[in-house]
Amino acid sequence: MRVLIFGATGMLGKALMRVWTGDEIVGLGSADADIRVPEQVQAQVKRVNPDWIVLSAAYTDVDGCELNPQLATAVNTQGAVNVARAAASSGSKLLFVSTDYVFDGLNTRPYETDDARKPINSYGESKAEAEKKIIEILPDACIVRTSWLFGAGGKCFPDTILKLAAARPQIEVVNDQRGCPTYTDDLASAMVQLCRAGARGIVHCTNSGDCTWCEFAAEILKAASLSAKLLPTTTDKFVRPANRPRYSVLSPASLGAYGVSMRSWQQTLSPYLAQRSESSSS
Ligand SMILES: NC(=O)c1ccc[n+]([C@@H]2O[C@H](COP(=O)([O-])OP(=O)(O)OC[C@H]3O[C@@H](n4cnc5c(N)ncnc54)[C@H](OP(=O)(O)O)[C@@H]3O)[C@@H](O)[C@H]2O)c1
Repeated sequence: MRVLIFGATGMLGKALMRVWTGDEIVGLGSADADIRVPEQVQAQVKRVNPDWIVLSAAYTDVDGCELNPQLATAVNTQGAVNVARAAASSGSKLLFVSTDYVFDGLNTRPYETDDARKPINSYGESKAEAEKKIIEILPDACIVRTSWLFGAGGKCFPDTILKLAAARPQIEVVNDQRGCPTYTDDLASAMVQLCRAGARGIVHCTNSGDCTWCEFAAEILKAASLSAKLLPTTTDKFVRPANRPRYSVLSPASLGAYGVSMRSWQQTLSPYLAQRSESSSS
């Protein structure tokens, strides 16, 4: 297969470039093609003529999106439309990476793929609109919703906690938002399997198990043998521009239907820590 990845310079994109072997992969960052510009997207798609396009590129700063919703729409919605149109005209399949933030977080059981989209911030709105428009343009597109990503080479929650733990005796972490931490290398491997299986429709793709941010932090400190004290706190103590869903656990049923399973998020911490120390020493 020939595969074209938009967003190859991002945290997930780097993992895709690392784990995707055995196929011909072309990875692009924003300097190669700005997805807001249809001509730039079309030129790259025409040049590569891929079997699959993976759209991982996005404006991912959730608070930034809230403060600049026009930019969120331009990159996350219109950019996705541009890529979907180029895929349609070249006959390429499309895998679009989406988010748990398309939901409002009011569920008390894991979200299924057919639960209604009800975003509560501009980032979620821009991705939810992208999903709807992609399905109109390419009804067979595959939409992979994931959550709470972390991995080497990216600004992510475990990296922040490890840096804070090295600098402070105690750290306050919110304990009233629940979701599924997902290791980028595991998500990338699952995405490769989905493309090879010719997946279509919405698929929820996270490491298994769920936790709060504070529970996640506790496990990170334990895995790194650090002794900083955690002080559980609540979302209302951390005023931020964008609302966050309280509960965004994604059901693994749609992923299981493709015969793909992902290990528990706890099992990913030691490979993550090893990879983090390798990349900081190189
Ligand atoms: N991070 C999370 O917790 C999370 C959770 C759920 C879903 N997701 C989704 O997962 C995907 C990957 O996220 P990530 O955390 O890996 O993202 P990231 O590290 O912020 O990387 C963003 C990528 O998008 C590219 N990009 C941004 N604006 C662009 C533009 N106008 N044109 C072309 N490329 C552009 C960047 O390119 P340059 O670096 O070259 O500028 C970079 O490669 C995104 O679709 C995101 O919505 C993320």
